[in-house]
Amino acid sequence: MNDYDGFAEAYTADTENNLVNAHYERPAMTALAGEVSGRRILDAGCGAGPLLAALRERGAIVTGIDASAGMLALARRRLGDDADLRVADLRDPLPFPDGTFDDVVASLVLHYLEDWGPTLAELRRVLKPGGRLIASLDHPFVAYTISDPRPDYFATTDYTSDWRIDGRSTPMRFWRRPLHAMVDAFTTAGFRLTGIHEPRPDPAARELFPEEFDDLATRTCFMFFVVEVPPSTGGPKGQCA
Ligand SMILES: C[S@@+](CC[C@H](N)C(=O)[O-])C[C@H]1O[C@@H](n2cnc3c(N)ncnc32)[C@H](O)[C@@H]1O
Repeated sequence: MNDYDGFAEAYTADTENNLVNAHYERPAMTALAGEVSGRRILDAGCGAGPLLAALRERGAIVTGIDASAGMLALARRRLGDDADLRVADLRDPLPFPDGTFDDVVASLVLHYLEDWGPTLAELRRVLKPGGRLIASLDHPFVAYTISDPRPDYFATTDYTSDWRIDGRSTPMRFWRRPLHAMVDAFTTAGFRLTGIHEPRPDPAARELFPEEFDDLATRTCFMFFVVEVPPSTGGPKGQCA
């Protein structure tokens, strides 16, 4: 299940220019990232690297990691041989020293993880003080409403959803958790919550996708978090004389 190696080409072709990824999720992530010129950014779960490419175009110094070698091969094709791309599983310790990055972006990957604790601790470790983690994932309300029978909202549970990829039905396994559990996981890992966002698709996409646009623009789909590592206090305070 979740065989990204097996459908890397098809997934990437499907999501390159579609409404949900190209005109909603990615523009929302780049808008949340804001001015990134000169910032060192890790894309955790970078897939074929469309967000890496967008951030690099805006002047960021980018590194990408993903568990799928097949997706990373496509990212390398997009970004070039000298791109810093590494196979890494977000459930494991990350191959970077403490405080390496100004920002981490994590697009549509956290919902594949049962336990966010070790992953968020590692993402916090590799961020500099004041660094941001910007993450998109399945909106928790959606994940609880698509299953029949409806699951317990307050439980963290896995579920399977069939994706249509390359003309075939492909079962995908995800983890859903209530909103408070997401916020608790970020704060337990030492992040400070700076924003929860529910953006709409880019209005300019209405003309390109007249049939789908209104539906996506009026329902929940993904949720976006911006959390940050508290700025360094500059070490222990000295005694007042
Ligand atoms: C929905 S795709 C999104 C890819 C990319 N972020 C984008 O927006 O185009 C999810 C990606 O997460 C990766 N992934 C899933 N579980 C992972 C894990 N435990 N560690 C690292 N990457 C993972 C998959 O290989 C896949 O490339």
